[in-house]
Amino acid sequence: MRWAKRLLFLGLFIATCQWLDTIKDRWYIFDPQSIHELAQAAIASAPHQNDTGSMINHIVSNLTATHPSSVIRINPKQQEWVFSNAGGAMGAMYIIHASITEYLIIFGTPLGTEGHTGLHTADDYFNILVGEQWAFKPGSLEMERYPAGSVHYLPRGTAKQYKMHEGCFALEYARGWIPLMLPFGLLDTFTSTLDIPTLYHTFRITGREMISNLLIGKI
Ligand SMILES: *[C@@H]1O[C@H](CO)[C@@H](O)[C@H](O)[C@H]1NC(C)=O
Ligand SMILES: *[C@@H]1O[C@H](CO)[C@@H](O)[C@H](O)[C@H]1NC(C)=O
Repeated sequence: MRWAKRLLFLGLFIATCQWLDTIKDRWYIFDPQSIHELAQAAIASAPHQNDTGSMINHIVSNLTATHPSSVIRINPKQQEWVFSNAGGAMGAMYIIHASITEYLIIFGTPLGTEGHTGLHTADDYFNILVGEQWAFKPGSLEMERYPAGSVHYLPRGTAKQYKMHEGCFALEYARGWIPLMLPFGLLDTFTSTLDIPTLYHTFRITGREMISNLLIGKI
């Protein structure tokens, strides 16, 4: 009897997850095309090709002006950067938006880095702002190149090796199930860096943004 109940609960749980997965689109506020246009406009508006700060400012001002704060929470704190160690790559990120089904961050490093993209439960659109990203997947013998202004699209459930050969910054938009991506982003703290302050701030900012969004009904 106990096993029958457990199986029933498991079945219900799986069915609920499958159903939620079919309706997740209704909670999306951003879309890949307008994020790409915004990234390109930010590049065009910058006085120098390497002026990441002015591009970020353009992006955040635009998002704040186009999305009412009653609908979505945008993090205006452009100084709020934390390290990101994941899949062997290292850089820093500024979380512009984080909710259950979407996130928008600036990720990059002026030094260059290389690693595994991670195998994610969300579609990922990596809009290059400054520098260049290279990518490779087993089976292809040549690399893919993503210069500033282009998008590296990584569909849910796919993984690649990537490299920011030199300095590179990107506007990364992910849509799908964001909380399931967090272990990839955080586990290196326990197996490698032991950088507890970074872990604390990553949790604090992500939690604050997700909860602020939930409170205004943005799932
Ligand atoms: C925001 O950026 C988009 C894409 O570049 C542009 O079409 C729109 O007019 C901008 N809106 C504001 C309020 O700046
Ligand atoms: C950005 O480019 C300008 C002009 O090419 C140069 O003078 C400046 O030193 C560069 N800044 C950085 C941070 O690389």
